Amino acid sequence: MITDGQRPVFHLSSRVGWMNDPNGFSVYEGFYHLFYQYHPYEARWGPMHWGHAVSRDMLHWEYRPAALAPDRSYDNLGCFSGTAITTKDGKHLLMYTGVTDRCCEAGSGETYQQQCIAVGDGFDYVKYAFNPVISTGQIPERYNKCHFRDPKVWQGDDGIYRVLVAAMDDNGLGNILLYTSDDGINWTYKKVFARNDGSFGKMWECPDFFVLEGKGVLTVSLEDMTPKGYEYHGGHETLCLIGDYDESTDDFFIRSDQSLDHGIDFYAPESIETDDGRRVMIGWMQSWENASCHDIHDPYFGQMSIPRELKIRDCRLYQQPIRELTGLRSRNTVHSNIIMEDDEISFFDVSGRVLEIDLEIAPVPGESLFDRFIMSFAGDKVYHTDLVFRPGDLMVEIDREFFGSGKKNGNRMVARITNNDGFFKAKIILDRFSVEVFLEDGHQVMTSTVCTPLDAGSIVFKAVGKLMMNLIKYDLKS
Ligand code: FRU
Repeated sequence: MITDGQRPVFHLSSRVGWMNDPNGFSVYEGFYHLFYQYHPYEARWGPMHWGHAVSRDMLHWEYRPAALAPDRSYDNLGCFSGTAITTKDGKHLLMYTGVTDRCCEAGSGETYQQQCIAVGDGFDYVKYAFNPVISTGQIPERYNKCHFRDPKVWQGDDGIYRVLVAAMDDNGLGNILLYTSDDGINWTYKKVFARNDGSFGKMWECPDFFVLEGKGVLTVSLEDMTPKGYEYHGGHETLCLIGDYDESTDDFFIRSDQSLDHGIDFYAPESIETDDGRRVMIGWMQSWENASCHDIHDPYFGQMSIPRELKIRDCRLYQQPIRELTGLRSRNTVHSNIIMEDDEISFFDVSGRVLEIDLEIAPVPGESLFDRFIMSFAGDKVYHTDLVFRPGDLMVEIDREFFGSGKKNGNRMVARITNNDGFFKAKIILDRFSVEVFLEDGHQVMTSTVCTPLDAGSIVFKAVGKLMMNLIKYDLKS
């Protein structure tokens, strides 16, 4: 039995067992639906199912029975990631990758990835009798049949269904292939929609695509990324490409790239358009690098990020937590114009592990620029995680060396901000086992899990040099 106290309060976590990528994020018959990569039998990755939960506000989730299990010859090794749409006749259609070893070259010991569909009513889903709908035979030459996955399906303004599938080319690099269809069942290969020239990791996974404020936005999750300065970190990373998209030709001209998250625990995001026209994205709030950090006998592993509202400014994606979060605020505390000089301060009414803090740091006029500001949270005598701002070199850092993991790597995350005169603005969201930091009105985000025991709840603010701090803290209720 998993008690409420063992789970995050407003982030979706796995019902039992293991969770990775969000799948089938969609609005259907009055509910937000979120499916997820799910291995119910153990808190470690295994043959993938699709877990299922629904919500009216993307913060309070109710589980529904698992929607897909790996029970057919074409998906016997797993129902991998995919997406969902509402069909022209009002059905909920899930498109996913079936993984099997029983494809074309039986006995070769290889696994194959093919695209499949299942149709349902929001509760039960029935796999299509003639799956797969995009088989290995429909993969163009020069692509690897073992790495062809994670369909992103949508219906264009012209009524045509489109699907993007991540495929590994014969150089081992991820490309995004486009297929089109009139009915969502019969698919034709159209073109390479986006290509990795080797600048962004190796294989690409989990494409998402949408048009926002007139711009096309493609997000892909990267394997084996090599850091590029402070904009990308190594390993598994999520890339956002913004450009011009022409629906009549399906051409996508990329104009800019950015890292979606400067923390480590954000991967494989999917997005929806809400009924009131917002583009909202959610990601897996864990990382493959640290996915083995927990005990496989834990009752569950895996949680989703807070859903983020997206905007574009100057060809850059800005992300903010969904506005529904303000509905969870129960009590607020304000501390204004706090001058700190080479000291540390804590407040009796600012502590705990489920809260939101709006923080502003500024230099003190007439004084030299301070060296460092630190907010040390989830703390006690043994543990702490630090959010550090160093104005001299414009660096923001999350340092979780003392958060309670036995792993040495992946504990320091950095972002470089643009502001250059000592001002720093951040929204910080804690929900028991995570911290999400939205910097400079969502210009950058840093996400990290915090697996520290829950009674470590102190929050201490420290200054090296002289600075001024304003903060508002909101308690968040379930
Ligand atoms: C990304 C991913 C997907 C795949 C799924 C399998 O995290 O590797 O490419 O569909 O996980 O669980």
